Amino acid sequence: MKKIIVAIDGYSACGKSTTAKKVAEKLKYAYIDTGAMYRAVTLYFHQNYITLTDPRQVNDALQKINIQFKYNSKTNASETYLNGLNVEEEIRKMYISERVSEVSAVPEVRKALVTLQQKVGHKRGIVMDGRDIGTTVFPDAELKIFMNADMNVRAYRRQQELMAKGDMVDLEDIIENLKHRDLLDTTRKESPLVQSPDSYLLDTTYITIEEQIEFVVNLAISKM
Ligand code: C5P
Repeated sequence: MKKIIVAIDGYSACGKSTTAKKVAEKLKYAYIDTGAMYRAVTLYFHQNYITLTDPRQVNDALQKINIQFKYNSKTNASETYLNGLNVEEEIRKMYISERVSEVSAVPEVRKALVTLQQKVGHKRGIVMDGRDIGTTVFPDAELKIFMNADMNVRAYRRQQELMAKGDMVDLEDIIENLKHRDLLDTTRKESPLVQSPDSYLLDTTYITIEEQIEFVVNLAISKM
């Protein structure tokens, strides 16, 4: 069986990461959460007061950033490390969600992270989720999935996720944040979020996580 790249793109909070993680587990592939990379950069920029409109500051900062994913056997999940520190919990917080789309629209940031993602995935045998994986990072991916869902369902699912971590956020605030990110992600100049014509559309409004996973795994096997 040949090793392939499964590229999962789509809007925020449609279940991309949950699906990608499980699909990778079933295929025994590595899972790469590119949103976590943009979030880690956002955290670093926030902590170091980086001015997004100053390319020199941005480039200097990018040189100092090291992002790693490490497996945690207790939680059975991969966690994000920024310069050696576990930032998994921090990067999921609302203040990062509120800033990440501005940071990820900066051309220097995209260039650095796309290069890193291509390096990480060049041997194939990966499931990578994000916004531009099938269009920019791996336009030659054997399987491309584009995920979407109804806005209220997306917001409700995100609220449940945050609540499970003890983070109480109003549903209206989540809807506002998702709409704001959708707008920035789809209208930015550099690799905007757009459905690749050769991708499979997966609307998760009325289906279960198990059905999502099965849909992607079956397609992946058919491409191997
Ligand atoms: O997937 P997640 O919601 O964690 O992504 C956070 C943000 O990172 C997105 O809203 C988007 O602005 C940015 N992103 C991106 N390109 C990717 C992955 C994420 O621009 N490949």
